[in-house]
Amino acid sequence: MAQRFTVAIDGPAAAGKGTLAKLIAAHYGLPHLDTGLLYRAVGRKAADLGLDLDDPDAAGAVARSLTPSALDDGSLRGREAGELASRVAVHPSVRSALETFQRDFAGQPAGAVLDGRDIGTVIAPDAEVKIFVTASPEVRARRRTDELAAKGRAPDYERILAEVRERDLRDAGRATAPLKPAADAHLLDTSEMAIDAAFLAARELIDGFLARRG
Ligand code: CDP
Ligand code: CDP
Repeated sequence: MAQRFTVAIDGPAAAGKGTLAKLIAAHYGLPHLDTGLLYRAVGRKAADLGLDLDDPDAAGAVARSLTPSALDDGSLRGREAGELASRVAVHPSVRSALETFQRDFAGQPAGAVLDGRDIGTVIAPDAEVKIFVTASPEVRARRRTDELAAKGRAPDYERILAEVRERDLRDAGRATAPLKPAADAHLLDTSEMAIDAAFLAARELIDGFLARRG
């Protein structure tokens, strides 16, 4: 088997991390972990239990008790769970409870693709390829709006834009593992790129790494 590698994909909400991570994983035959889902599951469960999301002890206990079946909940992909996730994700107690699972996934012999906020900086600082995907808040809000409209909803662009900005501030402003590019990350601004173009740019980066490694 060819020598495997780990790809770390980070960036703000709706930048296209998940879509890109799935395409990369399928193309290179690597397992993929959407780490946002872990934080979403913790936020959702804490809210369902009626706990105070700002209480680090309560949220940390939920994170420590998380089981894989909790990730199957279809509602986790929605906007509300994203908001709940970013509130519990500020707590070091929550982040450390989720860390071992993510590190083990990143270090598996088969290689891996992980997407999130702190993959290149904290979870997999030795990842062979790091990509920090960005796009302007307006473009990201437009993408989320279009996504919802395609599902037959009637989304409010201005409200979604306000949510995107709020989540950016919380994710980049927190003390522990804030959203920021790793020093050795490749920046990929997809504001004016469709998914195909972003995937092509990512493949060029990865193929360049593979050619150098030989
Ligand atoms: O995972 P993340 O929240 O960063 O974003 P995503 O769920 O992968 O992408 C959000 C939406 O934007 C999806 O509907 C993508 O198809 C779309 N998208 C796009 O239109 N152009 C891109 N370059 C990236 C994503
Ligand atoms: O897809 P989108 O970017 O909207 O959200 P997500 O990746 O599912 O992440 C939801 C929230 O979980 C983020 O806003 C972060 O607060 C948190 N998160 C994190 O702190 N660290 C990660 N590695 C992944 C997500």
